[in-house]
Amino acid sequence: MSEIHIRRAVIGDAAALVELENATFAADRMCARQWRHHLKSASAQVYVATRRLRVVGAAVVFFRRSSRVARLYSIAVAVCERGSGIGEKLLRAVERAARRRGSRVLRLEVRNDNIGAQRLYERHGYRHLGMHRAYYEDGHDARRYEKVLLPDMNGGRLEKA
Ligand SMILES: CC(C)(COP(=O)(O)OP(=O)(O)OC[C@H]1O[C@@H](n2cnc3c(N)ncnc32)[C@H](O)[C@@H]1OP(=O)(O)O)[C@@H](O)C(=O)NCCC(=O)NCCS
Repeated sequence: MSEIHIRRAVIGDAAALVELENATFAADRMCARQWRHHLKSASAQVYVATRRLRVVGAAVVFFRRSSRVARLYSIAVAVCERGSGIGEKLLRAVERAARRRGSRVLRLEVRNDNIGAQRLYERHGYRHLGMHRAYYEDGHDARRYEKVLLPDMNGGRLEKA
């Protein structure tokens, strides 16, 4: 199998991001205009996972000026690529990005019935904070999670990228 690369998304990825979004989420989807907005915004960072230059996963993190709390807004991996560590790689890229921006905490919401994603977050040190009732378009509740971002140690040095 060819390698997975994680990189910052660029405007040229917008069509692939829409395709991934439509194949992944049944509701609360981001359209092309919203993706282009996030790709240009200073308060968002979008990461993509690629295999042979093809986008197979994506994650979006939001930042707010004067806040040390970053928000993982979305993470998705193409159906046929799930379960091989791509979600974990994207999560780590987002955590590194948040640390670089000076964030101390990363928060997220996940559907109450999305047990797979909850397991991924819990395995990576996310703590269940509480619920948002009827948070999603279809009336489903969200579970809220957060992780305190400790410095990333890499062989005794702070990780650079
Ligand atoms: C959640 C998601 C991003 C994980 O990506 P991934 O590349 O499969 O994740 P990894 O391979 O790094 O980790 C696998 C873990 O993800 C979870 N998982 C979720 N769906 C899975 C699937 N279809 N196949 C395998 N693992 C899945 C499992 O808990 C697994 O953990 P385990 O090894 O302890 O069983 C991916 O399943 C996805 O895109 N799901 C649909 C969109 C979604 O739910 N996004 C999160 C919204 S908050």
